[in-house]
Amino acid sequence: MAKLPNITFIKAGSTTSETLVLPVAKNLELSSTVAEVVSNCEKTIKTAADISKFTGKKSTFLNLLTPAGTELERLLLVGLGERQKLEESDLVYLGGDICGKLLALKAKSAHILSDFTSEEAALLAEGALLRAYKFDQFLTKKDEEEDADIQLNLSFIVSDVAQAEAAWQQRKAVAEGVLLAREVVNLPPNYLGPVEFAQKAQELSKVGIETEVLDEEQMQALGMGALLGVGQGSERPSRLAIMKWNGGKQDEAPVAFVGKGVVFDSGGISLKPGAGMDEMKGDMGGAGAVIGLMHAVASRKANLNIIGVLGLVENMPDGKAQRPGDIVTTMSGQTIEILNTDAEGRLVLADALWYTNDRFKPQFIVDLATLTGACMVALGNHHAGLFSNDDDLAAQITQSGQKTAEKVWRLPLGKEYDKMIDTPNADMKNTGGSRMAGATTAAQLLQRFVGETKWAHIDVAGTAMGSTKTSISKGWASGFGVRLLDRFLADFYEK
Ligand code: BES
Ligand code: MN
Ligand code: ZN
Repeated sequence: MAKLPNITFIKAGSTTSETLVLPVAKNLELSSTVAEVVSNCEKTIKTAADISKFTGKKSTFLNLLTPAGTELERLLLVGLGERQKLEESDLVYLGGDICGKLLALKAKSAHILSDFTSEEAALLAEGALLRAYKFDQFLTKKDEEEDADIQLNLSFIVSDVAQAEAAWQQRKAVAEGVLLAREVVNLPPNYLGPVEFAQKAQELSKVGIETEVLDEEQMQALGMGALLGVGQGSERPSRLAIMKWNGGKQDEAPVAFVGKGVVFDSGGISLKPGAGMDEMKGDMGGAGAVIGLMHAVASRKANLNIIGVLGLVENMPDGKAQRPGDIVTTMSGQTIEILNTDAEGRLVLADALWYTNDRFKPQFIVDLATLTGACMVALGNHHAGLFSNDDDLAAQITQSGQKTAEKVWRLPLGKEYDKMIDTPNADMKNTGGSRMAGATTAAQLLQRFVGETKWAHIDVAGTAMGSTKTSISKGWASGFGVRLLDRFLADFYEK
């Protein structure tokens, strides 16, 4: 894997580095900490800034080589824009930009100096880590010029090292969760089948998570005909992974997250067109977010009981594959007529949601899924679709989305839409029968499997993969959902 920056927190003056990063606010405003350090070369800075029209605008840089009066190889000024207006996600993105610049400059060690609090420094560090991630494990010839192959030592100069390290432990837990989510989505389907994915869930024992894995026989005994129907055309057996983090009181009902984990979605007998089919290696963005979230909450020891459930299948065409026209019986007892074998995610989730609700009686369930192309048509790459039977839950998730810049947009559910999945042949059908309201008709099917429990469904088809490049995400898989839901739990459910 790409070499991630080595992040430390130090006191001013304790060591030296080749590069010193100095954050500068709008209009070249220096904080007192920074002004003191550069008192020797303030004139050089002012002149250079003048020449290059650097004013301290957010995420702009001024690179000064071997500035006179210092021992430095480089002084890198980074603009903060309006200092007071920097919010959580701005700091994370700024950290990403700083790291990106240092990697591009092939810097080996850098100190970042400012008046940042411990919490702010930890957010910058989070962004730096996320920015540096690269999916490059299958490249056998590493490009000598590749920036990520330089091990960058990044040190934040802070006033209270212990406090900053404690803050970093929390943020690092989340960032590593995001990287795990990206990793499973990026991995090619021949390397990550349902069994291998379940294995990754089991590996979370290293952070204190207990994982149970159900095999096909066990799911058969539970009556999970919908989930098993999707996987029956694959050579690789389906799995259900159940991860538990018990950080709360023993008698407290857990909160639950459920992820669609289709390791590859060919469409099945309703085969997808060839163009772009490779992208369906990422049809487990939902499950990726859930495993990443579990990693995050356990690593930072959240004081909450949390369940994460992954429905892991491969959707393939085959002599044994499910057909359009088949009717399957779900664990709930409800029957579903399959009109299109490519509408498989809702089938997987139907059983995974029912199982989660029935067994754990959670306070609420949030599911995540790369569920519909229709959601991408509606929202593009910039918002995930949010559906919920509870306004408070929806508002909490929306607010967390704004805070983390992992934005969601609520779309409707309703009786009229629910009727669209009725069929004379079974309790429901697995498509709305037309292109109308495709993201909602999928969500309506899910809603039939959560009873009265508070529930939200996040359609991440447009945000988990192939998403827009940002300051903290330069690859194909974004890890969308981990930062969003970690923030949501921390703000609204942890005491
Ligand atoms: N995994 C796809 C949805 C998807 C498409 C995710 C593109 C990411 C990018 C899902 O299983 C699917 O095929 N949905 C169909 C449903 C239709 C057959 C009712 C779709 O959206 O076209
Ligand atoms: Mn599909
Ligand atoms: Zn799919």
